[in-house]
Amino acid sequence: MDLKGKNVIITGASRGIGKSIAIKLAECGCNVIIAARNQEALDNTVEEIKSKAAGVKVIGLSTDVSKLEDLQRLSDTAFSEFGGVDILINNAGVSSQYPFDKQPLEDIEKLAHTNFLGYVRLIRLVIPHMIEKKAGSIINMVSGSTLVDPVPKTFVTYSSLKVGLRAFLKGLFWEMRDHGIKITSILPGVVDTELTGKLDNITEEQKERLMTPDAVVDMVMFALSVPQNACPLELAVINQQTPWIKPIIDYDQKQAK
Ligand SMILES: NC(=O)c1ccc[n+]([C@@H]2O[C@H](COP(=O)([O-])OP(=O)(O)OC[C@H]3O[C@@H](n4cnc5c(N)ncnc54)[C@H](OP(=O)(O)O)[C@@H]3O)[C@@H](O)[C@H]2O)c1
Repeated sequence: MDLKGKNVIITGASRGIGKSIAIKLAECGCNVIIAARNQEALDNTVEEIKSKAAGVKVIGLSTDVSKLEDLQRLSDTAFSEFGGVDILINNAGVSSQYPFDKQPLEDIEKLAHTNFLGYVRLIRLVIPHMIEKKAGSIINMVSGSTLVDPVPKTFVTYSSLKVGLRAFLKGLFWEMRDHGIKITSILPGVVDTELTGKLDNITEEQKERLMTPDAVVDMVMFALSVPQNACPLELAVINQQTPWIKPIIDYDQKQAK
């Protein structure tokens, strides 16, 4: 796909994996709307993107993906400011690690509304327009933890919602390929971001095993580079020595932010 002039929404793009994807796509000539809750962090990221990518439109829109009205505003803004959405990167996510019986109920709600419903709802909002155009690419940040069966202990809620998301996206692929729309799931291992940085008791040796967001950006770029008649349905990029062998995260974890 020639990325120049393509219009992109990226959720969870004020930092971490989403920010790295936004910078790369803007450098490739895409207009990007980046979404996250904290407007100040978004503004800083918008400035950073603009300093690295000239001649593209960059908008930072405060959005809570767990709220339907915010998603509607995000989608409406893409249409009013850019005239449409060619690429949706569903990436915003929170983490919460507990043995299930100790996990706060509010964390369970937040995980479901952010990491699952936030993705499904935004796809539902943009997809009618992609169907009309018979084109579009929807790339979703799932998780390498979905490759583990049963899902890792103390990650049961987080990972099982990602398993559900992965199943949803696989099913959606079959429906959408007839419309010329590509649906891709990316399954990253453990990446060095604030999401993992929040976790307690990671040793220096374990930190060295984390991937940088660049490894995930490469997956996104691959997904967008394959010929039009092919779709990478799922791309996993896993730590060479996977932390799930020896859990790096203590269960006594802060609540999802
Ligand atoms: N890091 C890993 O090891 C790893 C591994 C596998 C999968 N993933 C997945 O990759 C995605 C990105 O993770 P990351 O590691 O880059 O996390 P991160 O560094 O914590 O960044 C998360 C981003 O999402 C935003 N966000 C969180 N809740 C939101 C909400 N309700 N509405 C809108 N934006 C929200 C955050 O900004 P605000 O807080 O300002 O909203 C931030 O921009 C997540 O879906 C995560 O599950 C990560």
